Amino acid sequence: MPHKLSDKKSSASDSASLHGKKLAVLGTGKLGGILLRAYLRQGLFSAKNVTATVKHPEKAVALAKELGIHAATENRKAVYGADIVLLGVKPQVVGEVLKEIAPALSANTLVISVAASVPISYLEQHAGGKVPVVRAMPNTPATVGCGMTGICRGAHATRAHLDTAQAMFDAVGRTVVVDEKNMDAVTGLSASGPAFVYIILESLAEAGVKVGLPRDISTLLAAQTMKGAASVVLETGEHPAQLKDAVTTPAGCTIDGILELEEGKLRVTLIKAVVKATQRASELLFEK
Ligand SMILES: NC(=O)c1ccc[n+]([C@@H]2O[C@H](COP(=O)([O-])OP(=O)(O)OC[C@H]3O[C@@H](n4cnc5c(N)ncnc54)[C@H](OP(=O)(O)O)[C@@H]3O)[C@@H](O)[C@H]2O)c1
Repeated sequence: MPHKLSDKKSSASDSASLHGKKLAVLGTGKLGGILLRAYLRQGLFSAKNVTATVKHPEKAVALAKELGIHAATENRKAVYGADIVLLGVKPQVVGEVLKEIAPALSANTLVISVAASVPISYLEQHAGGKVPVVRAMPNTPATVGCGMTGICRGAHATRAHLDTAQAMFDAVGRTVVVDEKNMDAVTGLSASGPAFVYIILESLAEAGVKVGLPRDISTLLAAQTMKGAASVVLETGEHPAQLKDAVTTPAGCTIDGILELEEGKLRVTLIKAVVKATQRASELLFEK
């Protein structure tokens, strides 16, 4: 199996290789902020080596105050001297930001983009020269170190560049290297996925309330059950169908619940949700 479910994170030496590197985060919104806060919390990068940018000056002031970093609105200035540039702006803004920073980039600057929908060819073309590029698709559970990120590298990025990017995403969860043709699928499944899972979790918690549980207990039961089931899949590598069978006693309660799920078309609905999100992921770049 190319990516064993139980594979562990990269070694401490990988993240140690980031020490002393200068990082510029361009577009420090929800996702950029989650990643940056995690890096500072873990000491992956030190505050003095980090510059962050946003669009609104007042947000830059707030970020600088909160995180003790240099924060601004000028992207090109932020990039001069940076070893790694993390692009966290919306897909439609990536082109203009790259155009702005291109004069400050070189073959020694690793550009990592987390923008959905933006292909490596577009990033390379707008970055110019032989700038090494890694495309990544993380998700918001990175905020508690439980993220899932798919990454792939461009023509000028070496194995060492990919390792650097992997160390940055392993620091907030797990990382898998994929072919670029699968990046929209990663977006539709694991980047959009937390929203789908929150809806399922919320529904299970509502169900608990319906059958008489206090809401806080019901939410705990639902969340820990989802976490537990996911952990078993990750830790044993067993097929989810087999694990489901082990819960389903003949003529017991679970099979009655499963019949309801099948009648409500839960499986096909989830499959369609991921297919739609994947299709949408290929459209974002060219929208205004
Ligand atoms: N959210 C997710 O779950 C998720 C998951 C995977 C990938 N992504 C990708 O991550 C990227 C950001 O998504 P998000 O949800 O974090 O969006 P967001 O919260 O709107 O963040 C975008 C940030 O970009 C800043 N910005 C806008 N124009 C800029 C410019 N010209 N120069 C510098 N900064 C600029 C904004 O500044 P202000 O704060 O001042 O407006 C904001 O902080 C997207 O490309 C998305 O595809 C997101």
